Amino acid sequence: MHLPPSATSRTLRVGIVGCGRISRNHLEAFAGLDGARVVGVCDVDPARAQATAEAWDVEHAVDSVPALLALGLDVVSVCTPHPTHEAVVLESAAAGVHVLCEKPVAVDMAAAERMTAACDSAGVELGVLFQRRFWPAAQRVRAAIDDGSLGTPVLGHVSVLLHRDPGYYAQDAWRGTWESDGGGVLMTQAIHYIDLLQWYMGEVAEVYGAINTFKHGEHIDVEDSAAAVIKFTSGAMATLAASTAASPALGVQIRITGSTGATAELSEFPEGSDGRVTLMAADGTVRSSPAHPADAAPDVDLSTINAALVPHHTSQIRDFVEALARHDAPAVTGRTATTSLRILLAVYEAARTGEPVRFAPFPPGVPVAPSDVTARAAAQPASR
Ligand SMILES: NC(=O)c1ccc[n+]([C@@H]2O[C@H](COP(=O)([O-])OP(=O)(O)OC[C@H]3O[C@@H](n4cnc5c(N)ncnc54)[C@H](O)[C@@H]3O)[C@@H](O)[C@H]2O)c1
Repeated sequence: MHLPPSATSRTLRVGIVGCGRISRNHLEAFAGLDGARVVGVCDVDPARAQATAEAWDVEHAVDSVPALLALGLDVVSVCTPHPTHEAVVLESAAAGVHVLCEKPVAVDMAAAERMTAACDSAGVELGVLFQRRFWPAAQRVRAAIDDGSLGTPVLGHVSVLLHRDPGYYAQDAWRGTWESDGGGVLMTQAIHYIDLLQWYMGEVAEVYGAINTFKHGEHIDVEDSAAAVIKFTSGAMATLAASTAASPALGVQIRITGSTGATAELSEFPEGSDGRVTLMAADGTVRSSPAHPADAAPDVDLSTINAALVPHHTSQIRDFVEALARHDAPAVTGRTATTSLRILLAVYEAARTGEPVRFAPFPPGVPVAPSDVTARAAAQPASR
């Protein structure tokens, strides 16, 4: 990894590109870290960059990435809309600057691969924000897999039932179209939980999927709802159901059942709140707490969600800064983030073709229903 010789012993110089909603989380996180200082902010809207610099006491406000890089940076944080991530990452890597990029890393695989390749060949780190991995509860579920108490994950279920009102899609021109947003609930919301699922369950072998738009069709071209079956190279299987058409919202639950028969459930309700382990069924006992406490307001607005994410952004940004000081890779790299992108793009492809997307063999020896059973099922009348 490239690092200026003195970078471990001095404060890293950070620039932030994109001064919209999520940049606040980055500014607040860096403000709380000793090892890094934001020296410049950049936005194509110069007034927005200037207002951000004044609000956060940052020395420089600029309106282009080259002008930001000219300040002499160690790290760039990318907080721009998804399809613009690639250009900013490539320019930063070419300048020998480490990059911390908001999710999704990109909206297509070719871009994600160009980004990871550019950072590799420049010898800089590419980290991608999946701050939910830093929930202590998410790490407890991972620990229950690692210490054998869950065993090897065999079954997973992810339920993402969120609320967005039409104003959410109307607020920015880039939201809700395939060209500028790259997708809907899968690309923007469910990607966090797909990341957790693959972190727990391992390498994906096959993906079956369907998408639809039930509520927001007047405002968006992309899907507001998706369902998938995901098979893993270990032989494990998972289901996913995700929507921004729920109201009241039920937040997110991820259930993992392991080879010991034990099950853990991780819940986020309301959206943006800290993840909690709401169920641990192991060793003959079931310990549970309500996944949906009655006193929580379910349909949360975006600024409340983003503000609640600050502590977890801070944990991940601290991990990134500390990894650079150790000359090590951060916890979530561009390659890791490309894996969850690949899974959700496979749901789109499966939905488009009606066929599963196969990446790797599903293990042989897994029992398959005999052909007479599947033939009988196919012969059933569609309705009675
Ligand atoms: N990790 C999370 O939980 C989380 C939460 C919210 C948003 N995000 C991600 O953060 C990114 C930004 O989301 P947001 O809600 O802050 O968007 P936003 O629209 O509020 O802000 C984006 C800003 O980037 C600026 N911009 C656009 N193109 C630019 C360019 N080429 N150079 C410089 N500035 C440019 C815009 O003018 C705008 O100010 C998205 O990719 C989104 O998925 C992540």
